[in-house]
Amino acid sequence: MRILVTGGAGFIGSNFIRWALSDHPQLTVVNLDALTYAGNLQNLEGIPAAHHVFMRGDIRRREDVDGAIGDGVDAIVHFAAETHVDRSILAADDFLTTNVLGTQVLIEAARRAGVPRFVHVSTDEVYGSLAPDAPAFTETDPLEPNSPYSASKAASDHLIRAAFHTFQFPAVITRCSNNYGPYQFPEKFVPLFVTNALTGEPCPLYGDGENVRDWLHVEDHARAIWAVLERGQLGEVYNVGGHAEMTNRQVAEHILDLAGAPRSLIRPVADRPGHDRRYAMNPDKLERELGWTPKWNFADGIAATVSWYRTHEDWWRAVKSGAYRDYYERQYGGRLS
Ligand code: NAD
Ligand code: TYD
Repeated sequence: MRILVTGGAGFIGSNFIRWALSDHPQLTVVNLDALTYAGNLQNLEGIPAAHHVFMRGDIRRREDVDGAIGDGVDAIVHFAAETHVDRSILAADDFLTTNVLGTQVLIEAARRAGVPRFVHVSTDEVYGSLAPDAPAFTETDPLEPNSPYSASKAASDHLIRAAFHTFQFPAVITRCSNNYGPYQFPEKFVPLFVTNALTGEPCPLYGDGENVRDWLHVEDHARAIWAVLERGQLGEVYNVGGHAEMTNRQVAEHILDLAGAPRSLIRPVADRPGHDRRYAMNPDKLERELGWTPKWNFADGIAATVSWYRTHEDWWRAVKSGAYRDYYERQYGGRLS
């Protein structure tokens, strides 16, 4: 089996490739990634080269996508996106061109090549924000995105839906809650707090810290995507969630305790504009139809994650200093702009 993964040098894509190749030794993965600031080839170190073909390219460019599909692939798993809400608030252009137009370029290229299966990786954020006592999101809830990031992801979900409806495009959509685990870019909440805690730096907690997220270990997400890739019903949406709702303050305190840092490092800062109050996923459909359940509970998962960052200081120091950008030059001899 040969699959094309987009965005495989990012956090979830690289974890997915690592997990998929360890579980399916016959698999070959073509990894198309533009290496934006969020893409890091060091995330892919140790992955067997014989089964992993890295291609630097942009999903917005038809020729890059056609080149990556080559003579054909058995499936496409589409992770590539601009993903950080705070950045989308500052400037939304790349969110629209990559998340929306890039997805349409992929749909068209996949249709031309007759790719038989397409998994579109989306997010719980497309559903908007939940009231404190509201039931968790289900797949039939309306899309009510509140940030430029989630609006661009919702638009891409709609394009996938429209392609299925109009052309019987063989796609399945997954919508997942917040992920945590190894190789997450340290601008996101968990790795930022873990690495700041390890170096004794302040941890900026937005607003009152009572916003709720539903946390899922990235390895459980990888297993869910594989289940959907293999057995998901075309045209369907599957929610993925870890049954682990927590306030940001609770998560922050867990992290500081595990890192052996004082809770006084938590510093309340101004809230994110339009900050969604609560996300929670109901993954019943995925559990019932495809037999998936999360293996990690939050306490063990976050402890393993803090421990991973503790033992992979070189990785995150290179990201924080910007030195990770030189790795491409050493490996491939080109410059990253
Ligand atoms: P990430 O920001 O860590 O990685 C994104 C990757 O996409 C990077 O390697 C980047 O170089 C690449 N990329 C960006 N623009 C590109 C383009 N135009 N062409 C080719 N490659 C490009 O993101 P992530 O956290 O790994 O998220 C992956 C997917 O999962 C995204 O679609 C995101 O919306 C979704 N998702 C993420 C979470 C989460 O908690 N991180 C939760 C639910 C869904
Ligand atoms: P984030 O990791 O950006 O994911 P998302 O916004 O997609 O859920 O943020 C997770 C939560 O943590 C969110 O409620 C915002 C909050 N947060 C902070 O309190 N401080 C921070 O420095 C960051 C980056 C996020």
